[in-house]
Amino acid sequence: MYASLKSIGAYVPSRILSNADLEKMVDTSDEWIEKRTGIKERRIASAEESTSDLGTKAAEIAIARSGIAKEEIDLIICATLSPDHLCMPSTACIIAAKLGITNVMAYDISAACSGFVYMLSMAKAYIESGMKKKILLVGAEKISSVVDYTDRGTCILFGDGAGAAIIGATDNKNEAIVDVHASADGNYADYLITPGCGSKYPCSQETLDERLNFIKMKGNDVYKVAVKTLTNDVVDILQSNGLEASQVDHFIPHQANFRIIDAVREKLNFPIEKTVLTVEKYGNTSAASIPMAINDAYETGRIHKGDLMLLDTFGGGFTWASALVRFGGN
Ligand code: COA
Repeated sequence: MYASLKSIGAYVPSRILSNADLEKMVDTSDEWIEKRTGIKERRIASAEESTSDLGTKAAEIAIARSGIAKEEIDLIICATLSPDHLCMPSTACIIAAKLGITNVMAYDISAACSGFVYMLSMAKAYIESGMKKKILLVGAEKISSVVDYTDRGTCILFGDGAGAAIIGATDNKNEAIVDVHASADGNYADYLITPGCGSKYPCSQETLDERLNFIKMKGNDVYKVAVKTLTNDVVDILQSNGLEASQVDHFIPHQANFRIIDAVREKLNFPIEKTVLTVEKYGNTSAASIPMAINDAYETGRIHKGDLMLLDTFGGGFTWASALVRFGGN
């Protein structure tokens, strides 16, 4: 029995934050942002919407497309760096309740932008071991809640959104998750971090005054490590599965920055036509980025059953992960 990605769904809030809007908030320009990142706009959730609301809407679409009844789901995992609540309950528990699913195992994982691919490795193991049969994975972020809109080095990059997938079992190898590689190096923790409001610097007037509850990033250093790691990751997973880049139908990288994606793509000789890009319209949506990109390719009719997708991601931790996935949906 193999694990299979049976369906995909995504949701973005309606409010658009354009580069022109950001020009009014910080010392930046549309031209600078587009040239350095390829981002034109991103979505921002309303004050009434939380991460679980975005995740629930994406999950409803993925469930409907899978053709299974929600009651069949026996595990819900949510990857997020912007949970509804800092400690508990998990966002996965809240999504389960909003979906009307009770009596189900549900928990969050913390792997920043690598969250969705990390979850794929867990789902693959649960299904192949027979422990679980129908798993809902949700990557959801109201990342605007932890972005400092006075810091031009970070606020231009991120956006809100959610993506979800149903992972089930198949005996058909041509519809299976082929392999997942996931790794981390905590020595880079300070490069991309929300320093405050955890146990190290608990929330206080001082941490808030110093804006330590927001994302801090060494952008240039992150950029260099990201290009190197994302490239090595792809070479590694293709080699260990005896595959050539030319056998991949869709390269679906983490949508952090067009320049990063393009540098990796060029090093690997992937044609741009095979590369899925959503960064221009959504920016970096962290754990939601990969499932949102799969969904975009699905909804535009690019992805078909059995197509080989190569996922490649990188994020705070540092964490990184890649996956070879044959699309198992219709
Ligand atoms: N608008 C205008 N100027 C800006 C700016 C902005 N939004 N942000 C930074 N600058 C300025 C800097 O202050 C610096 O000015 P200086 O030369 O006078 O000191 C100059 O632009 C160059 O800054 P630098 O940080 O070297 O730019 P860069 O080419 O590395 O681009 C990023 C900055 C953030 C776009 C880029 O480093 C990046 O994308 N890094 C990876 C971030 C990422 O993907 N993080 C998530 C990983 S999951």
